[in-house]
Amino acid sequence: LANGVARVPPMGWNSWNSFGCNINETLIRQMADALVSSGMRDLGYQHVVVDDCWFNPNRDAAGDLQGDPSRFPSGMRALGDYLHARGLKFGLYQVPVDRTCAQYFGAYPGATGSQGHEAQDARQFAAWGVDYLKYDWCSPNGTIQDQVTTFAKMRDALAATGRPIVYSINPNSIHAKTGPQRNWGDVANLWRTTEDITNAWDTGQSNGYPMGIQNIVNVTVPLANYAGPGSFNDPDMLEVGRGGMSDTEMRSHFALWAMLAAPLIAGNDVRSMTSATQTILKNQNLIAINQDSLALQARQVSGDGSRRVLAKPLANGDVAVALFNQSGSTATISTTAAAVGKSGSSFTLRDAWTNTTTSSTGTISASVPAHGTVVYRVSGGGTVPSNTGTLVSAASGKCL
Ligand code: GLA
Repeated sequence: LANGVARVPPMGWNSWNSFGCNINETLIRQMADALVSSGMRDLGYQHVVVDDCWFNPNRDAAGDLQGDPSRFPSGMRALGDYLHARGLKFGLYQVPVDRTCAQYFGAYPGATGSQGHEAQDARQFAAWGVDYLKYDWCSPNGTIQDQVTTFAKMRDALAATGRPIVYSINPNSIHAKTGPQRNWGDVANLWRTTEDITNAWDTGQSNGYPMGIQNIVNVTVPLANYAGPGSFNDPDMLEVGRGGMSDTEMRSHFALWAMLAAPLIAGNDVRSMTSATQTILKNQNLIAINQDSLALQARQVSGDGSRRVLAKPLANGDVAVALFNQSGSTATISTTAAAVGKSGSSFTLRDAWTNTTTSSTGTISASVPAHGTVVYRVSGGGTVPSNTGTLVSAASGKCL
């Protein structure tokens, strides 16, 4: 979406994965402070997104949305001010129709959707200092066209406020799924590609609840040609640091999200991170690949279903190459500089995890543990822009 924001994937933290409805302003402020003290803010994790359950289910006498006074006694504007004073940005969750997803499942009362109130609510968000809106389709009703119309109304209402606000939509909650086929780049900065993520490598779902890491990768890799500055596929928030996976799988998750130009929205409790979690979330090589100004999503160059090679061209002519082992045992995965869009015969490979470099005359290869992902930043030689990976059809998942 050409609204001037999210020219590279947004980074930040969101309350949902770890806290669900158990949120309040003390928690959010502690998390903001931890983003600063851990150094994460300075690495780019700036958006603090308050997910579902922040609001009073009743509008006020003027029809305005209100924060839940028991959870946010200082008010939403004060929370925005707190975040802005620390160099952070303020994100909020809202839905268009019926109930929020938590309300739909009875975890929270009321119904305060923005449909019919788009202009008023967008003005309210802007007045509170909101920089990022997550707008979630939780309705059991509606067609794809209803979704397009409804999401576009809030897009226009946000634009009319004049405040730069990242617009993140989820067409895929609960019902009326568009699936991943539609390119939402005309409507939003970020759009969820699947049902909700969970802290597991594989849940056996193709696109149902809940999705494991590799299940989401399978859906999102073929959508590479939808991504660009201002418009990104959103494979959902990070599960790094939330248990349920091995360290290798956590590393793979982060590396693949970096390669997919995904929003890097941490979902763990950043007040109490292990050093292993910090090493992953603070990997500057991978963050740089994710935040590269070309803002391209990696494309699959080759893959036999278990040994997959992804390539992401970068602004300075380098190419980031991921060797992703989706199989259950260690495998050697190989490609060539030519296959990932480089010309020449002398290259440097920087391993994103070890931060060491090796020289190559064109071979790019590694022994990769089960479910692991090795990432190299390939420098040197020239670039062949037309040969930066095989386009995979979004609809069929087959090579074109
Ligand atoms: C949906 C979304 C989640 C979260 C919850 C909140 O399930 O996909 O990311 O926002 O709603 O209820």
